[in-house]
Amino acid sequence: KMPLLEQCYNLLDFEAVARRVMKKGAWAYYSSAADDEITLRENHAAFHRIWFRPKVLVNVEHVDFSTTMLGTKVSIPFYVTATALGKLGNPEGEVLLTRAAAKHNVVQMIPTLASCSFDEIMDAASGDQVQWLQLYVNKDRAITQRIVQHAEKRGCKGLFITVDAPQLGRREKDMRSKFTDPGTDVQRQSGQQTDNSQGAARAISSFIDPALSWADIPWFQSITKMPIVLKGVQRVEDVLKAVEAGVQGVVLSNHGGRQLEFSRSSIEVLAETMPVLRELGLEDKIEIFIDGGIRRATDIVKALCLGAKGVGIGRPFLYAMSAYGLDGVDRAMQLLKDEMEMNMRLIGATRIDELNASMVDVRSLYNH
Ligand code: FNR
Repeated sequence: KMPLLEQCYNLLDFEAVARRVMKKGAWAYYSSAADDEITLRENHAAFHRIWFRPKVLVNVEHVDFSTTMLGTKVSIPFYVTATALGKLGNPEGEVLLTRAAAKHNVVQMIPTLASCSFDEIMDAASGDQVQWLQLYVNKDRAITQRIVQHAEKRGCKGLFITVDAPQLGRREKDMRSKFTDPGTDVQRQSGQQTDNSQGAARAISSFIDPALSWADIPWFQSITKMPIVLKGVQRVEDVLKAVEAGVQGVVLSNHGGRQLEFSRSSIEVLAETMPVLRELGLEDKIEIFIDGGIRRATDIVKALCLGAKGVGIGRPFLYAMSAYGLDGVDRAMQLLKDEMEMNMRLIGATRIDELNASMVDVRSLYNH
């Protein structure tokens, strides 16, 4: 029997339910990661190697964890990251995530490969709700230009260019499920004939341009005024290149472990990155986000202590949506807020800008 929604007490609980109730192919697509899924597990496991150094006797009666990301005021520093094929988990697809994000005043990143059309997702937004566009760059740049400029015209507030997927990773669980009938119009959007024998991910992604390079960044800057963020950066050298290229942000990410197996966790890359940025006086030149394996507000707090501006969360909302629909995503977000309030109090911080590197012990992060 399926547990009641009230019996889900944290984000991992939704995953356990989703695994039981989701259709096999949908579960395979959402949960799968590259090769032996070592990076997938490491994404979350790395957080277990960071410990807190809380402050005591701070007056924490009033706690406010609202902040800004790319100039947008948000109620809590996480956003719903882009995940393709929302209708696999729920017939309403991405617009359901839009509604939950609106209710909680968090940002939603819209995937290029959404099941719903881009306009449906924009139309589902409430008044001042903020949405960003995740972009897979098409070999045909005219198509990409149309997508970007349409998004800007419709009021998107950020352009996240995915840079870790010149070829899709090998997700064997997904390949084995012999994915058929996505029930969506992503095939039309990608403008390609698709071959499903390699799983859902490969079927929908053949249009992505493997020739994309740093030399293309000025072109993106010339076609849009939206802030540009590179999603999928994995080394401090590339963060410095991003600063040099004049983009507004990077997402340290390994695509939820779905691309290069043995990529390091994003929290570890963050811990390597911020000291270098500070030493070079560049920490205010770029906003650093991370995603991958964030399941608890303690994970969010650790990322913020180490200098992240915000974090993206992917699978947990897909699982909550697949198991319980809108109420599930609503509860998942509320659970994170409740955890956040408690953790801020217990660590001795009343506002986000009071979190800093002295409040975490990262000595075991590298020695394991
Ligand atoms: C993704 N991700 C992703 N990223 C992207 O840039 N474009 C995309 O279309 C997708 N699609 C996608 C589908 C599914 C099912 C998953 C699980 C992930 C990666 C995503 O944006 C993010 O990097 C990770 O999901 C973060 O890890 P967690 O929170 O899922 O652990």
